Amino acid sequence: MKIATLSDYLLQRIDRAAGQPLNRQLYQVVREAILAEVLPAGLQLPSSRDLARELGISRNTVINAYDHLASEGYIATRTGAGTFVTDTVPDQLSDADRTEPAVRQAGGHAGLSARGARLVQRAGASKTQWGAFMPGVPDITRFPVKVWSRLQNVHWQRGKPELLSYASGAGYLPLREAIADYLRVARSVNCHAGQVIITAGIHQSIDLAAKLLGESGDRAWVEDPCYWGTHSVLNSLDLAPVPVPVDSEGMTLPPEMLRTPPRFIFVTPSHQYPLGPVMSLARRRALLDYAAAHQVWIMEDDYDSEFRYTGRPLASLQGMDTFQRVVYLGSFSKTLFPGLRIGFMVVPEPVADAFATGVAELYRGGQIFTQAVLADFMAQGYFASHIRRMRQLYAQRRHLLQQAIDDAFGGKLATTGGDAGLHLTLLLPPGCDDQAVSRAAALEGVIARPLSGYYSDPQQGQRGLLLGYACVPDELIQPTFAQLARVINKYR
Ligand SMILES: Cc1ncc(COP(=O)(O)O)c(C=O)c1O
Repeated sequence: MKIATLSDYLLQRIDRAAGQPLNRQLYQVVREAILAEVLPAGLQLPSSRDLARELGISRNTVINAYDHLASEGYIATRTGAGTFVTDTVPDQLSDADRTEPAVRQAGGHAGLSARGARLVQRAGASKTQWGAFMPGVPDITRFPVKVWSRLQNVHWQRGKPELLSYASGAGYLPLREAIADYLRVARSVNCHAGQVIITAGIHQSIDLAAKLLGESGDRAWVEDPCYWGTHSVLNSLDLAPVPVPVDSEGMTLPPEMLRTPPRFIFVTPSHQYPLGPVMSLARRRALLDYAAAHQVWIMEDDYDSEFRYTGRPLASLQGMDTFQRVVYLGSFSKTLFPGLRIGFMVVPEPVADAFATGVAELYRGGQIFTQAVLADFMAQGYFASHIRRMRQLYAQRRHLLQQAIDDAFGGKLATTGGDAGLHLTLLLPPGCDDQAVSRAAALEGVIARPLSGYYSDPQQGQRGLLLGYACVPDELIQPTFAQLARVINKYR
C-alpha cells in the first residue's frame, strides 16, 4: 500500500472530534488492518515523520502508536531499513481470539477491556523484586526490626479498636503531622498536616490525583525516559501520556509542545528517573509559570531524594510554587521498605478536603495500626537516624559498584545518575542491544533492566542498564558485576 493510500485509509477511520486520543485511534486502526490483512505481513510502513505529515498530526502521536504496535509484536523496526508489518501475529492471539470480535477489541486477552489488555500487555514490573542489581529497592535486611516491633507492641497493648478499623479521611492524623514536619524541614515543602494525604504508595497517589483532577482522554506530559508505573496508571485510566524529551537540566519544554497545554505534567525534578539529572532552577521557574498560566497540574514525584551523596540536599519544586499547582508525591518505599505500601501526597490547600474524601471513598483504606507505628517511628527520631545510616551504606555501595565498573571497562563505559538514589545507569554504545544483554544476564541470575525499555520508543532510546546497588551486600557487588561485564562484552 502506498503512503497516500494508507493515509487515506487512516483518515477515513480516525475521528478527531472523538474523545479518544489520536494515538489510541491510530494504534487500533492499524492493528485491525493488520489482523484483517489489509496491511499484509512484510509491508513496509511509512516513517513516523512521513505519516504524521500526511495525516496532519504530531509525530509524537505516530511514534506513540508505532511503539504500542511494536511492543505487542504487530510491527518491527529493522535498523537502517524501516518499519514493517511482522510475519506472525502476536502469540496472545490464538485462533479463538481471531474469530471473536469482542476479544479482538480487547487486544487479545479474553474478557479484558481494551484498557485492561493494554495494561497487561505493557506491564513493566519486574518478575523478580530482590537481588543484584534490582533498581529502586533499599536494603530491607537493615530495617530496625526490633525498634519497630517494640513500637508495635505498645499499640497492641493499648488495644485501641479504632486502629483496627477502616481508615477515615486522609489517614492517621499524627502520621500526617509527622510527615508535614519532616517535609517542611528536609524537603522545603510548604505544607501543614491538613494537606497531607496518606496512600498506599506513589502508584495509588497518581491514580487518585488522575481520577480527581483529570478527565478520560486528557493529556499528561511525562518525561522520556520515564518510570514505567506512571505510564501504567495513566494508561489504565485512559489518560494519554505524551513523552517529552529529557536533557541534562531535566524535562525540556519544546516551544511547539507549549502551544497545547496538557492537564498534567509528571516530573522527577530532584533525580530524574531513570537518568538522574536534577531539574535546573530556570526550568523549574518556567514550568511553574507555565502551569499557573494554563491551569496545568504539576505532579512532582520525589521518590528517592533522601539519598543524595554529593552537594547539599535539594529543595522540592513544591516549595517554590506560589500558584498552588504542584501536587507533591512521596513514599516510604525507598526510605523504609516497599512492602510497607505507605506513601503520601501533599495537595494544594483548595483541593485538600476533596482528596481526603476521595481517598476514603475510592480505596476504603486500612493500615491505621501500621500508620500509628510509623508515626511513633518518625516522631521518636528513628526515621531520621535510619535514613542517615542507610545514606552512608548506599554511598559505600555506589562507590563499590562504580569501582567494579571501572575495573571491568577502564572508564570506557560512562555512568549517569549516581549522585542520588538507589541505582546508577551504565550507558552502553548506541548499537548495543541492551534488551538482549538484560535477558542474557537474567539467565545467569543477574538483574539488569534495559534503559531503552523506559523510553516511549525503545528503538530510539539510549542503550544502557539500570543497576540498583542499595540492596546488594558489599561483598557481592564486585563479583556480580564481573559476571555481568562478561555478558556485556558478548554484545558490545
Ligand atoms: C520514579 C518512581 N516513582 C514511583 C515509584 C514507586 O513508588 P511506590 O512504591 O510508592 O508506589 C518508583 C519505584 O521505583 C519510582 O522509581
